[in-house]
Amino acid sequence: MAGSDSEEPAIPNMTTTSRHNFGDDTAEPVFSISIIENMKEEYGLFVWPCSIVLAEYVWQQRLRFSGSSVVELGAGTCLPGLVAAKVGADVTLTDDANSTEVINNMRRVCDLNKLKCNVLGMTWGVWDASIFSLQPKIILGADVLYDSSAFDDLFATVKFLLQNSPGSVFITSYHNRSGHHLIEFLMVKWGLKCIKLLDGFSLMPSDKASGLSGNIQLAEIVLNNLQP
Ligand SMILES: C[S@@+](CC[C@H](N)C(=O)[O-])C[C@H]1O[C@@H](n2cnc3c(N)ncnc32)[C@H](O)[C@@H]1O
Repeated sequence: MAGSDSEEPAIPNMTTTSRHNFGDDTAEPVFSISIIENMKEEYGLFVWPCSIVLAEYVWQQRLRFSGSSVVELGAGTCLPGLVAAKVGADVTLTDDANSTEVINNMRRVCDLNKLKCNVLGMTWGVWDASIFSLQPKIILGADVLYDSSAFDDLFATVKFLLQNSPGSVFITSYHNRSGHHLIEFLMVKWGLKCIKLLDGFSLMPSDKASGLSGNIQLAEIVLNNLQP
């Protein structure tokens, strides 16, 4: 009965679906990706600005992605990985194996966009059997450099994947909050080198850039084979 005392208090539904367009003509996108987000839950249920930058980069570099094997780390709502799948990459989306809700949402967004991706729980610095079979040509990571206590685990996983797949590259977008020094330090420590560093905003079309803030950088990182 309406208004009865036994009714549960109304809980606002925090789930929304956002739509992200890709194409060189903003008036006529080539395709859209829909993402289910949940504002009240974890980091991995929200489309972070770094992910919008990385997804745009994947679109702009689509020829390179088409037919490539791609692994996205800390994928969360998976926008860059889904764009890679849309342009013809063979994509494995991964996130923290303990974040069941995030992993479930990853499957939901694949279904929603009718994209077939492999979805895998993969915690940085943890060597489950599944990681050994991954040989990506391109590793993606949007906003995965945000908690410095997890940097070494993340870089350990990145280094493993780069070694397991010779010639591969890690492409990451991140908020440059304290200069590039920490990333540089970690690259030296883990025997990696940066081969490309871009200002995230420089590659964004104006309609997308206007919705973003902060100092977002995009780096391409490979093994430094010159190191002993
Ligand atoms: C700031 S969110 C970024 C999510 C998504 N890439 C984006 O940019 O919208 C960080 C992501 O890293 C994941 N993550 C955090 N710690 C992790 C760990 N130790 N192993 C694997 N994933 C982790 C979180 O679950 C979350 O999805």
